Amino acid sequence: MALVSPEVARLRPYEPGKPIDEVRRELGVDDPVKLASNENAWGVSPRAVEAIAEAARGLHLYPDGGCFYLRRDVAAFLDVAPGQLVFGNGSNELIDMLVKTFVQPGQNVVTSAVSFVAYKLSTLGAAREFREAPLGPDKGFDLDALLALVDENTRMIFIANPNNPTGTCLGAEALDRFLAAVDERCAADPPILVMDEAYIEYQGRADYPDSVALVARRPRTVALRTFSKAYGLAGARCGYAVTSPELVGLLERTRQPFNVSALAQAGARAALADQDFVRRCVTETLLERERVHKRLEALGFDVIPSHANFLLVDFHRDAAALHQTLMRRGVICRPMGPYGLTTHLRVTIGLPTENDRFLAVVSNLDG
Ligand SMILES: Cc1ncc(COP(=O)(O)O)c(C=O)c1O
Repeated sequence: MALVSPEVARLRPYEPGKPIDEVRRELGVDDPVKLASNENAWGVSPRAVEAIAEAARGLHLYPDGGCFYLRRDVAAFLDVAPGQLVFGNGSNELIDMLVKTFVQPGQNVVTSAVSFVAYKLSTLGAAREFREAPLGPDKGFDLDALLALVDENTRMIFIANPNNPTGTCLGAEALDRFLAAVDERCAADPPILVMDEAYIEYQGRADYPDSVALVARRPRTVALRTFSKAYGLAGARCGYAVTSPELVGLLERTRQPFNVSALAQAGARAALADQDFVRRCVTETLLERERVHKRLEALGFDVIPSHANFLLVDFHRDAAALHQTLMRRGVICRPMGPYGLTTHLRVTIGLPTENDRFLAVVSNLDG
């Protein structure tokens, strides 16, 4: 018998970026800039750093397995009941838990192509069927194409809103229409809708869907949030799900007892309390996003309007070669070849000086 399921055999391991010191050493570049993983270039709140240092004194003890204080703080922040929250080692762990907990043999998971890779990794890793709809012509989620894949065996639908790597964002009306059609088709056993809102702080739609209110209306809904992006805590690993108490109870059965470290809990609480810091970071990011977008367009490249802290850019040339050129000049972006977008790169919005480094290279490609 094969050692792994056919689904696991089909998977390719997630390819992590190289540590920045390795890039420095290999390329002989003194000060490379990393614009590859959609982190917050403005860093982390000093209050969170202090809280983490303080929490380090208690590292001989296991963390609070129930995230009691963090739960209380997030519940107050969102105005939900504490029993509507599940915390994870990053929202990545929650994606894994959601699939593991709810998707049974014979059931399938539906999402869009050119979206966050973890949905596929978790589904195939659990040896479940994974269905991907094509993107729409505007490179956003095509909800009609998604609907075409939904059947009575669909247990879970992942929608990244805003989406990574396209930066596109759906409005409430389109989502409501889609959901009404899904629930009509699957009236006997509606699928769980997971709204992955990792980049919510950067989105700019007035009609952005209120997923927390949707949970109240439609209990088989999950909103996923993270401290890794605007809150600047990617290295600490903390995310959470907002859902109905019934789904929380089921997720809690498969959660590892101490999945969120004491440092992550302390950092997340302090970061949440420092909303001024988050606001400043987001304001700066949006200003830079607009500046970089305009400059790239002026250079003749196609840029998808982004609701996140990155841009997906069509350079109309071999992006793998461009990626290497940028690397040699000390600028690390994310190639999109694995998504079939061979002329695109995804670039995270960095500090102004970092963005200038990137823009300087792409301004002079034929020179
Ligand atoms: C759409 C989306 N969801 C979830 C995540 C995972 O974030 P984390 O596990 O750091 O919370 C990412 C990270 O890049 C993402 O882009």
